[in-house]
Amino acid sequence: MARIEIISGDITKLHVDAIVNAANASLLGGGGVDGAIHRAAGPELLTACKLLNGCVAGEAKITPGFRLPSPFVIHTVGPVWEGGTCDENKLLASCYLKSLELASAKGLRTIAFPNISTGVYGFPKPVAALIALETVRDYLANSSEIELVIFCCFDEENLSLYKSAFSELVLFEKVLTEQDITLTSDLASVIWNEHYVPIIGQAQVDYMVTNFQSPDAIRNQIQHENYKYYLLYHQSEPSGYISIKQMGEDLFLSKFYVIKKKRGTGLGKEGIKFITLQARDAGAKRITLTVNVNNINSIKAYQRLGFTNDGPVVTDIGAGYVMDDYKMSLPAL
Ligand code: APR
Repeated sequence: MARIEIISGDITKLHVDAIVNAANASLLGGGGVDGAIHRAAGPELLTACKLLNGCVAGEAKITPGFRLPSPFVIHTVGPVWEGGTCDENKLLASCYLKSLELASAKGLRTIAFPNISTGVYGFPKPVAALIALETVRDYLANSSEIELVIFCCFDEENLSLYKSAFSELVLFEKVLTEQDITLTSDLASVIWNEHYVPIIGQAQVDYMVTNFQSPDAIRNQIQHENYKYYLLYHQSEPSGYISIKQMGEDLFLSKFYVIKKKRGTGLGKEGIKFITLQARDAGAKRITLTVNVNNINSIKAYQRLGFTNDGPVVTDIGAGYVMDDYKMSLPAL
């Protein structure tokens, strides 16, 4: 799982594969972190930037780092804050996304960001911190190239904003390793026994955990049935897991479980936001799921999250067990 670190310091001193510059559209230098990076990199950086023909807000371009300890600089242009009426949030998120995509394309593994647009460009720091952390979090969930993202804060306000936002951030880690598969299966056993025994009885829970959520079953689903599993981490603790599969124009949400003590803490909403992003990235039109007709709390929770009840569906799961469910769906707008 890629790491996110939040530090205080001067980004020009960092030894990472690339530091990100909060530049302006000309890419010909300026004040703030832009000025610091050009001063530390030396005049060759300006010469290299002159060949780039500028950069529009939300985009990113790359040059060598020259005299900087980091071999590359990714120049991105943040939005000037205009009161939130000119797509500033989208443009700021794009700065982080395009910089990460550029770093991945270059095979870079470690990258450091300043607090883009929160200086001269006047972007409100609390909103900017959340956009930066969530955009990077969502990208890292599906990226195996990037190993470390550092948020290099230069002022105390940004440092405390990033640290408090990060402490509440839900992280999603794609299940790829045997360790993750075992952890997911262990979580499934805990959650299914604490949640489903009152609904479908111990015998059926045992049957389902053994046949559908054992390490072998999860590995088989991932390797041979095109399921994607993600672990949810909250306050550094494995707090749940998600399993999705593209089915035609739908993204089927096969599993979405949160451990009991974390229910009602907003992880459901965060999870659906993440799943909706996966659906959009996959070009799916809807997110569909099935939920046991007697699982009243989950039915209500999904309805609160915008899902509609599309009626009953009965599934024979073998060994004489039948799943009596409702099919529910949510447009992946
Ligand atoms: N290391 C890390 N962060 C720094 C450094 C540094 N050496 N110097 C400044 N910062 C921080 C600022 O404190 C701020 O939190 O970078 C963040 C971004 O502030 P700016 O550099 O002002 O960038 P931005 O708000 O995106 O405005 C961009 O400012 O410098 C000009 O040419 C630049 O026109 C562009 C505009």
